[in-house]
Amino acid sequence: TWKNEKGTQAGYQKIMETGKALDGVEAGAWVPEADPNETTVGYGGYPDRDGHVTLDACIMDHLGNAGSVTFLEHIMHPISVARAVMEKTPHVMLSGAGALEFALSQGFKKQDLLTEKSKKAWLEWKKQAKYEPKVNIERHDTIGLLELGKAGEIAGACSTSGMAFKMHGRVGDSPIIGAGLYVDNEIGAATATGHGEEVIRIAGCHLVVELMRQGKSPQQACEEAVMRIVKLTQNRNKNLKDIQVGFIALDKQGNYGAYCIQGGFNYAVNDNSGNKLIDSDYFLK
Ligand code: GLY
Repeated sequence: TWKNEKGTQAGYQKIMETGKALDGVEAGAWVPEADPNETTVGYGGYPDRDGHVTLDACIMDHLGNAGSVTFLEHIMHPISVARAVMEKTPHVMLSGAGALEFALSQGFKKQDLLTEKSKKAWLEWKKQAKYEPKVNIERHDTIGLLELGKAGEIAGACSTSGMAFKMHGRVGDSPIIGAGLYVDNEIGAATATGHGEEVIRIAGCHLVVELMRQGKSPQQACEEAVMRIVKLTQNRNKNLKDIQVGFIALDKQGNYGAYCIQGGFNYAVNDNSGNKLIDSDYFLK
């Protein structure tokens, strides 16, 4: 998702080295997680309304192994903690203080993730916002990666600091297997960006994969999942203009697609023909 060409490049290179899609998606997530200018993922992510940078991430492989961390503070690479949850514990998901405790026990370093730039934006927000967590359509650039390994196996990863200036304790779709990410090695994979609440409501990425199982192309499956959100939003008498959600999907043959509610969403694709940025089609024209 998004202008993560450096991430897709890093993922591609990693697959060239180890052959494994799982290594590729982890390497690809590291790039925005460590980038202080990327204000929606990892280090430099905008904090919650109390000034805490809290991170959500998950990872899933071709065997159905999955790991996730939610509401994690102080760790630069939550995706690697999610991978450690997957590989070194009997669990899928660890949260908050327990996730941090586990990360430290695995040798991850505790760091301050709030940069001067993000702190300044938060202090500005506080002046106007009256402490109200407001949904906006700009700040939601979750990084999701879907990759095929050398043996054709598929893996996915998703990492975010979540909605800017959210309520303390809020968790979005990104660490939830089936919502922000889903991988089924028989069919393909999907990941999501945008308002996590809306993605959770329809178990979005599981839906996209199941639609592909029924014969839809990745593009058609993303479109149908977005239309479910459109319908639900209208049924709930909410304004669609206040909502952004985008899905990307990849099938086992390497076909891919994307669709979103509002214009402006793009995604990077790196294959044997090189690295390119593609503008997603969208519903609200
Ligand atoms: N999609 C990221 C979030 O809502 O937290």
